[in-house]
Amino acid sequence: MTVYDLKIIDIPKIEDNRGNLSVIEAGLLPFEFKRVYYLYDVPSGTYRGAHAHKEQWEFLIALSGSFTVVLQDVNGDKVGVTLNKPNEGLLIPRMLWRELEGFSSGSVCMVVASDVYDEGDYIRDYNDYINYN
Ligand code: TYD
Repeated sequence: MTVYDLKIIDIPKIEDNRGNLSVIEAGLLPFEFKRVYYLYDVPSGTYRGAHAHKEQWEFLIALSGSFTVVLQDVNGDKVGVTLNKPNEGLLIPRMLWRELEGFSSGSVCMVVASDVYDEGDYIRDYNDYINYN
């Protein structure tokens, strides 16, 4: 997978005078999801991530505030994507190196993942990532 396989996906939004409602249902994403986790209270100036997943796909949404996802692939191509809308998300296929930075105060990053947590699916060393095959 390369940075060209990244995709922004619109999440359906139902609006009325009581506010907005967005929903992620099976079929919106090109993978079946088994886990949801979220990052919050991230101190300004810190970054998270710095890993790749061998098999898992993820879909990241800025439920509140904003942050930037910097992605790199094994060819060295690099892309930065800023997320700041609760009704769109970034699809990250397997085997892309990602770092999350620039969290605004009060931001919340929700992640929908293709499988349950498995430390064995992580590549946390950048050189291991580049040399993984
Ligand atoms: P880490 O991978 O460092 O978070 P991030 O990639 O967002 O910077 O995870 C922090 C800790 O939380 C680490 O000890 C693993 C644990 N963890 C779980 O137990 N379950 C999970 O679903 C996730 C994502 C992390």
